[in-house]
Amino acid sequence: MNLELTETQKLIRETARKFARERVAPLARELDRQERFPTEIFKELGQMGLLGVNIPAQYGGSEAGAVSYALAMMEMAAADASTSVAMAVTNMCAELINAFGTEAQREKYVTRLVSGEAVAGSFALSEPHAGSDPGAMLTSAVRRGDSWVINGSKQWITSGAHAGVLVVWARTAATGNKGLSCFIVEGGTKGLHIGRHEDKMGLRSSNTVALTFEDCVIPTENLLGAEGQGFRLAMVALDGGRIGIASQACGVARAALEASVTYVKDRKAFGQAIGEFQGPRFMLADMKTQIDAAELLTLRAAYMKDQKQPFTREASMAKLFASETSNRVCDKAVQLHGGYGYIDEFPVERYFRDARVQTIYEGTSEVQRMVIARESFRLLG
Ligand code: CAA
Repeated sequence: MNLELTETQKLIRETARKFARERVAPLARELDRQERFPTEIFKELGQMGLLGVNIPAQYGGSEAGAVSYALAMMEMAAADASTSVAMAVTNMCAELINAFGTEAQREKYVTRLVSGEAVAGSFALSEPHAGSDPGAMLTSAVRRGDSWVINGSKQWITSGAHAGVLVVWARTAATGNKGLSCFIVEGGTKGLHIGRHEDKMGLRSSNTVALTFEDCVIPTENLLGAEGQGFRLAMVALDGGRIGIASQACGVARAALEASVTYVKDRKAFGQAIGEFQGPRFMLADMKTQIDAAELLTLRAAYMKDQKQPFTREASMAKLFASETSNRVCDKAVQLHGGYGYIDEFPVERYFRDARVQTIYEGTSEVQRMVIARESFRLLG
C-alpha cells in the first residue's frame, strides 16, 4: 500500500478542507442548537463534487475513488459531524444505484443525488423491530400490474424529511434475508409519510425521522437490482458506508484533539499551562496515536476498495476501531477541558455527543465484530 496521496486525492482533501473550515465549521454550533438541517450547504456540496466522490464523471461525480472519499469525509466531519453524515449517506445511495442500477436509473437518480438536486439521499433499511437484523423487517412490497405497492414503517432514517431520492428495502417474499428487495422511491411520492423527528443526543442538525409507507405506489422500473437480492445490496452498500462512518469518526476525533491542544496551551493551573504537566501530555499522546491508527485502518479499507479487492472485513475493522477511538478521544477531550468541556461554549461538548452514535449506526460495534469474525473464519479456512 502506497502511503503517498495522489494529486487527485490531495485536491479532493484540500477542496473539502477549505469548504468545511470556511463555510461549514462557522455554522456548526448554531445548526446544532437549532437542530436545523443545512439544505443550502447540500447544493454547494453537489457543485463541488462532494456528493459523488466515487461516482463516474458521466453522472456528475468526481470519479476520485474511495480514498478521496474517506479524506473528504474526515475533513467534513472535523467541521460538522451532522453535515458529514448526510453527505455520507448521499454518497452511499449514489454508489449503490451506480453499482446495481440500470442505465436509466443511473441517469435519473445518480445524477440527482450527486448534483445536490435531490438535496440528499436516504437509506431506508432499519425498522422499529429490525435494526441489527434487517432480515427481520416487515415492510412489504407487492407487485400490482406495472407497479410495486409498499406498506410498512422505517425508523432512524437519516435525512428522511429532506431526501429527494430514497433507497428503500421491503419484503417481496415471505421470510428471511432472501425475501428482501430494494427499491428507489422519490421524495414526495404519494403514500410516503414523514413521521416523528427524533430528538437526538448528538448530530442534532442531521435530520433523523421515522417513515411510513401507506399504499405507496412506485413503478416496476424502480426495483434496484434483482428481486430477492435486497439483502446483498444492503450489505455491499454498508461495506462502503462503514468506511464513511470510520472516516467521520476520525474527523471528529481529530477535531477534539486539536481543540484540546489549543486549550491546554492556554489554560493555566498551579502556576503554568496545564499542557506543561505530564498527565495531560500523556493523554494527548495516546489520543494522537489512536487517531493515527484509526486513520490508517480507514485508508487501508478505502485503498482496498479502490484496488477492487474484497474489503468487507477491513471496513468493519476500520469502523469498529475508529468509532471506539472517537468516543475515547472525545471523552478525554472533555476531561482535559474540565468544567469547560461540559458546556457548549467549547466545541468538545458537541464532539462528545456527536461521537456517541458512531458505535451504533451503520452496524453496532457488536455487528462489526460479528463481520470481522465471520470473514476471518472464512478467509483463514
Ligand atoms: N457483501 C456481499 N454479500 C454479503 C455480505 C457482504 N458484505 N455480507 C453478507 N452477505 C451475504 C452472505 O454471503 C450470505 O449470502 P448467502 O445466503 O447466499 O450465503 C447472506 O448475505 C447472508 O449473510 P449472513 O448469514 O452473514 O447474514 P446475517 O443475517 O447473519 O447478518 C449481519 C449478518 C452482519 C449481522 C448483518 O445483518 C448486518 O450487517 N447487520 C447490521 C445492519 C446495519 O448495519 N444497519 C445499519 C442501518 S443503515 C444506517 O445506519 C444508515 C444511516 O442512516 C446512518
